[in-house]
Amino acid sequence: MAKYRIAWLPGDGIGKDVLDATRIVLDKIRLDAEYVPGDVGWEFWCTEGEPLPKRTVDMMKTTSAAMFGAITSKPRTIADQELVPELRNKGYVYRSPIVRMRQMFELYSCKRPCRAYPGNPLNYKENIDIVIFRENTEDLYSGVEFYPVPEEMFKVKGMEKVARDAAISCKINTPRGCERIVKAAFEFAKNSNRKKVTCVHKANVVRATDGLFLEIFHKIAESYPNIEAGDANVDSLCQWLLKRPLDYDILVAPNLYGDIISDLCAQMTGGLGFGSSGNIGDDYAVFEPTHGSAPKYAGMYKVNPIATILAAKMMLEWLGEKADAARVENAIASVIKEGKVRTYDMGGDVSSLDMAKAIADKC
Ligand code: NAI
Ligand code: MG
Repeated sequence: MAKYRIAWLPGDGIGKDVLDATRIVLDKIRLDAEYVPGDVGWEFWCTEGEPLPKRTVDMMKTTSAAMFGAITSKPRTIADQELVPELRNKGYVYRSPIVRMRQMFELYSCKRPCRAYPGNPLNYKENIDIVIFRENTEDLYSGVEFYPVPEEMFKVKGMEKVARDAAISCKINTPRGCERIVKAAFEFAKNSNRKKVTCVHKANVVRATDGLFLEIFHKIAESYPNIEAGDANVDSLCQWLLKRPLDYDILVAPNLYGDIISDLCAQMTGGLGFGSSGNIGDDYAVFEPTHGSAPKYAGMYKVNPIATILAAKMMLEWLGEKADAARVENAIASVIKEGKVRTYDMGGDVSSLDMAKAIADKC
């Protein structure tokens, strides 16, 4: 029996392209793993009314971790229109399977490293090395939404100023949710000799939820006297990140702000083709690129697989295979530095699979 069982979830669009490429690298380092394919994505929403079928969830529960490609999520009205006729009147509601997976498996910590590997022509500035810790289960992604808003909600004090035809999406943050992500950020800082953690918020305006996040941040920071703790409003942080990216080390943020600053930081260190993501809980973890399904490139094996290979590297670290993780990261760094093998986003024309082979050759 293999040492690890890994759920293998390509999903939609370029999800398959980047996972196929990643497998070339995992096979090269001979990870002792069995890869178990699972159904997830838009196709299963259209045919079954369920983009994350129960059989996939059950299968995932038998595995050590999962590699996930990407899924196509569409806004409410489009999702409604594209419901197959048999399901249309049964009241199915589309919800992003990756968001559900994060909540279902309590993958509360979304870790997103953004490192400017030397030689990458897409680097915004050299030496950027930021790690984002995004809260991953609550906030505006809680899925508590109302449209239309039920009549009884208007009886609550404060609701009298809300129009009857409003739509409401709740931003829900709990002390437990805030604590565990802030602790994850400080623990990572301590264990990796990082110097500073910055809390991202908008507590001056969004007082209840972001106020709680900031208060808990400062309380937990007291237990880490050797790590500098700072905080910043999310809007001003965006301009500071562009102006002085080297001032930032670790960022910790509630779900939505974390999602947004992740794409900004990914863009500063090579773009979406380099942004990797680990959805990590106490017992299970799902690794994926930050990018989506990029439908226009689906099946063309054209996109950059490095984001997903970096996600696999994070998976190796999480599994405890630290030497293999280092081999993979060094191979990626070396291919980037040499500059001979580049996908289209880097100004080259090699395929996703050839990029993966070049990395595998150096492992
Ligand atoms: P996207 O991330 O799929 O692609 C945007 C653009 O970024 C692409 O057109 C391409 O130019 C570039 N890009 C993305 N990945 C790349 C790669 N590996 N190498 C080189 N260039 C790359 O975002 P978009 O177009 O907004 O969303 C497409 C679909 O993906 C939507 O349905 C969206 O909801 C979904 N999505 C899913 C996510 C997930 O599965 N975790 C995350 C983000 C979006
Ligand atoms: Mg995102």
